[in-house]
Amino acid sequence: MTAPSDLRRIGRSELVTPPLILGGNVFGWTADRNASFAVLDAFVAGGGKVIDTADVYSAWVDGHKGGESETVIGEWLRQRGKRDDVIITTKVGMLPIDGVQGLDPAHIARAVEGSLKRLGTDYIDLYLAHRDDADTDQNDVAEAFDRLVKDGKVRTIGASNFDAGRLASAVEGQEGEGQARYQALQNQYNLLERHEYEGAVQDYCVAHDIGMTPYYGLASGYLTGKYRKPEDAKGARAGAVGKYLDGDGPRVLAALDAVAAAHQASLAQVALAWIAAQPGIAAPIASATSVKQVEDLLGAIHLQLTSEDLSRLDKASKAGVTA
Ligand SMILES: NC(=O)c1ccc[n+]([C@@H]2O[C@H](COP(=O)([O-])OP(=O)(O)OC[C@H]3O[C@@H](n4cnc5c(N)ncnc54)[C@H](OP(=O)(O)O)[C@@H]3O)[C@@H](O)[C@H]2O)c1
Repeated sequence: MTAPSDLRRIGRSELVTPPLILGGNVFGWTADRNASFAVLDAFVAGGGKVIDTADVYSAWVDGHKGGESETVIGEWLRQRGKRDDVIITTKVGMLPIDGVQGLDPAHIARAVEGSLKRLGTDYIDLYLAHRDDADTDQNDVAEAFDRLVKDGKVRTIGASNFDAGRLASAVEGQEGEGQARYQALQNQYNLLERHEYEGAVQDYCVAHDIGMTPYYGLASGYLTGKYRKPEDAKGARAGAVGKYLDGDGPRVLAALDAVAAAHQASLAQVALAWIAAQPGIAAPIASATSVKQVEDLLGAIHLQLTSEDLSRLDKASKAGVTA
């Protein structure tokens, strides 16, 4: 069981979670329906609460049209019958409907109905703008999201893939109008990809209580240590992990090896615990394609790294950075 002290609040919302969110882009992609159900069951049995998905998952796969992940999660929710035990995060803006995508209010209003239907639920706990949309007025976006909250279709809203300036202008507009504001941010962040969070975005999140829930917590699996040689990087993840085999990757893995050995932990657990220890982080997101993997990831929730561990990892990860 998860002790209350392990729980983190997402921004100023009523949503609380242990410091691990289950990534859902694999459901219906690299995890079939049975594997997905088993992963979801194991995640909840191990104390997990938040499941992250998006309407567009997994439209990048040949023959898919998007909505596959939400559909699997919806079927699992129906079978399990305990909707209120979990927190569902989904996103809008990257799945075209009749050729329209982005954050246009009419598109948001249509897209949310599709997500609710596929998820088989009448509310979404956390609804994110999947990426910024410079072509739509932020006031119009804010009104569209606020309407969803007022209508009870969405409990909390957030942003994903935003830079600091646009996050700040959006949140300031929402607060100024007394509207629902972005409580969460979902940008990429891990030991090998720090630039989309550290600096101005992190400062803003910390100063304004926006809960960062970073994606690619494991750098697509690279930080588990299972891709050490070019011949390891095959299949669906080849492109995503191949880029880490040279450069900073091996040095970061060596630091993870050392810290993991000291704690009798796995590399994945250490990589996620490092993220969870950074300022402004509510919970890192990682996906799993088997029960074994998700049980391993759940071990990150209780792993306490020492300040020496954190600085060792920090140094290894920053050593290649040039000013
Ligand atoms: N907001 C956005 O724009 C955005 C973008 C991307 C992702 N996301 C979210 O973030 C989530 C995470 O992204 P991701 O799944 O692509 O990357 P990730 O979490 O960095 O990598 C997860 C992958 O690593 C492997 N893995 C997990 N646990 C393992 C273990 N214990 N041992 C060995 N291998 C393990 C699995 O892949 P294999 O079994 O295939 O090896 C798993 O699918 C997504 O599901 C999605 O919800 C959001």
